[in-house]
Amino acid sequence: MPGSSTAQSASADTDVTMRSATAAQQERILVMDFGGQTAQLIARRVRDQNVFCQVVRHDLSADRVRELNPKGIILSGGPASVYGVGAPMIDPAIFDLKIPILGICYGMQVTCHTLGGKILPVHAREFGRAPCTQSANKAATNALFDGIPKTFNAWMSHGDQVETLATDFEILASTSTCPNAAIRHKSRVIYGLQFHPEVTHTQFGGHLLANFVLKICGCEGTWRISSLIEQHVARIRRIVGTDQVICGLSGGVDSSVVAALISKAIGDQLSCIFVDNGMLRKDERQQVEEQFSKHFKTDLHVVDARARFLGELAGVSEPQQKRKIIGKVFIDVFRDEAKSIPNAKYLAQGTLYPDVIESGANPDGPAATIKSHHNVGGLPAELGFELIEPLRDLFKDEVRRMGLELGLPEIMVWRHPFPGPGLAVRCLGEVTEERLRVIREADAILIEELHLAGIYRDIQQAFVVLLPVNSVGVMGDDRTYENVAAIRAIQSEDFMTADWYQFPYEILAKISTRIINSVRGINRVVYDVSSKPPATIEWE
Ligand code: XMP
Repeated sequence: MPGSSTAQSASADTDVTMRSATAAQQERILVMDFGGQTAQLIARRVRDQNVFCQVVRHDLSADRVRELNPKGIILSGGPASVYGVGAPMIDPAIFDLKIPILGICYGMQVTCHTLGGKILPVHAREFGRAPCTQSANKAATNALFDGIPKTFNAWMSHGDQVETLATDFEILASTSTCPNAAIRHKSRVIYGLQFHPEVTHTQFGGHLLANFVLKICGCEGTWRISSLIEQHVARIRRIVGTDQVICGLSGGVDSSVVAALISKAIGDQLSCIFVDNGMLRKDERQQVEEQFSKHFKTDLHVVDARARFLGELAGVSEPQQKRKIIGKVFIDVFRDEAKSIPNAKYLAQGTLYPDVIESGANPDGPAATIKSHHNVGGLPAELGFELIEPLRDLFKDEVRRMGLELGLPEIMVWRHPFPGPGLAVRCLGEVTEERLRVIREADAILIEELHLAGIYRDIQQAFVVLLPVNSVGVMGDDRTYENVAAIRAIQSEDFMTADWYQFPYEILAKISTRIINSVRGINRVVYDVSSKPPATIEWE
């Protein structure tokens, strides 16, 4: 799928980026991002309650917050100390807006600091689970802890904590080392938690956030993917009129959902371009063709550019060089094909909410916390299309739900992500037809075995890597000197961090035996037991 942020954005008045598709939503929660790792996770937890939630920068002015008109505000954690130089602060006037506020970790400290409390470093950074007990006299009148047992395990991760509360605050819960583990303002609707309710290690954390969103902020939880589909369909029809939309299809879930949504809106005014760059997995092109002809009445352009990509990659081993070549050739091929589509004015892309947050593309977004992410195959502004990005408010799991509601098959919706440069970055060293054949065969066996064992969806990404070394083996009476294949299988929430998957040995044994026995050219299989960080998910 083409990357997210390089092509030109449509003008604001046409609103084709769908930026305000949800802006009219009455009900929303803002998460102000103070630089913590979990701001997006908080937003996802809120959305679990069917409430629209946006991550915004921590220094948004009170006036802008008023305009956005949220039903509640959550202040995220962050790595800073409130007394540190350049520590992120909040516009104090936000506390006077009469909007319910929940500060989490640093968010609680910045709340207390702004409203007259005192924050101090703890002797040793507290990290991990701690039994947290509610104050006896507060439990009955405290909506935040409604339905939560008196004592529960809370996940702590902090270096500072609130030492002294301003007089108009009271304690709701404590741990043995943190007396002010949960607090609230006595007369205003302002709460603070030193622990992290958004992480699954906090017992009843989701329940607690639901209490804040539904009981304290009074949200009704009416945000539904199905109603979002209807809104987008109407909007796309209105904007596109009689023009033609082009969608770069990769076979991955994001571009497939975009294509499905736009096809629902405008039918045959959508033309999809699928580029076969020769780095695809086994039967991938056929599968995409089949799924799309089965599910959509869409004009599908399949461009066979295998020879061109392989030709340009000949003799190249350096990973970034491979990426560059693939990115450039992709743009050329895509541009040439797009020229054959008359009246094409718009380009649809599967930009997701995390891309929007991390790229700093939204002026309200937390640009300061930019994380780098891969963007190979991005389309440049010179292509001259206006962008339609209907997924830019959604997280991946929401995109999957949308895909299912649009009638896409599970196999498409739950497909593991596949990088733009494809098998080229899994074929360590030089990319040749023969090495791609070997990888393809082995990879297909791995994926088939994951399905057979019923563990495909427990794993977020799995693939075979072909190493640039040969190893000695024996087959029958013969000595062999052949390729080594590595299996990579990871579990991850967001692909920024990942754990290697703990395979049951018998499944690993079956995969290895099948690959060595049936893939000509591989005589050894190894399993990659590296987490990210410090390793990355891909090997190149
Ligand atoms: P890493 O290897 O950085 O990968 O841990 C994180 C996620 O990004 C995918 N990835 C890419 N996607 N172009 C892409 O479109 C690339 O060049 C690229 N490199 C890695 C990777 O598959 C994983 O899901």
